[in-house]
Amino acid sequence: LLPWRRAVALSQPLSPAADRPAAPSVCLPSWNLIEFPNAGSVSEQVAARLLSERRFRPERPLGLATGRTMQPVYAALVRQLGQLPEAEQGRLRERWLSFNLDEYVGLAAEAPGSFRRAMHEQLVRPLGLDPERVRLPDGTAPDPTAEAQRYADELAAAGGIGLQVLGLGLNGHVGFNEPPCDATAACRCIGLCDTTRQANAPAFDDDPGAVPRRAITLGLKEILAARSLLLVVTGAAKAPILRRLLSEPPRDRKSTRLNSSHLVISYAVFCLK
Ligand code: GLP
Repeated sequence: LLPWRRAVALSQPLSPAADRPAAPSVCLPSWNLIEFPNAGSVSEQVAARLLSERRFRPERPLGLATGRTMQPVYAALVRQLGQLPEAEQGRLRERWLSFNLDEYVGLAAEAPGSFRRAMHEQLVRPLGLDPERVRLPDGTAPDPTAEAQRYADELAAAGGIGLQVLGLGLNGHVGFNEPPCDATAACRCIGLCDTTRQANAPAFDDDPGAVPRRAITLGLKEILAARSLLLVVTGAAKAPILRRLLSEPPRDRKSTRLNSSHLVISYAVFCLK
């Protein structure tokens, strides 16, 4: 993790209690916090970290996320990979293996808004990857609960996640683990709350009603089992929830604290401008 500067610039007061989302499912007081001057540098550094994990620690698959935060990260990853020597690029393509956190239930792979389609457009196609090596839960499986179990088994068979990159939902969720969430919650089918459907509406023509009501998500169990975690937070809208994660212990005993006691090397990188 190269020239990252350790800093916490979260001096603004918390938002008033009435505006606060539900208690977040994660709490980050012992994470390594690294602030960047702009979102572009966050993306470049996260992309470099993902690439070096794939190059030098390929034994376990990458854990990937979708969403607006990740789009510029993948654009940077495509650019950075393209600058490597041809032979190294080919080696990386052939040996690529990643597991995404989540997928909506009921969306076909090519449907606008589906995470599979987003991964295809942002990573599979520009990198020329075999789609089989960029894995996601199957949102069209007839039995989503069985599909969640199958996906968890597939991930376990691949050795579990090496580096897991995480976006942050406005209500403090990672993946689609809506808070409060038990640290032992495994990959499962889950109902999405209204704030999440509202936040994700831009991918559905700005219509929250078009956002599926359910999703399959890796649980905190699989996420915490990753060798390292990298939480990526950009934009002013995420400032209140990041401050809460840093300053408040989870109120609900079922909430979890993602910290060093879980034996993961955890970084939160952010730019709240
Ligand atoms: C979504 C996804 C997460 C994503 C997060 C943040 O609901 N389930 O995987 O990381 O929320 O999304 P965004 O980056 O668009 O703010």
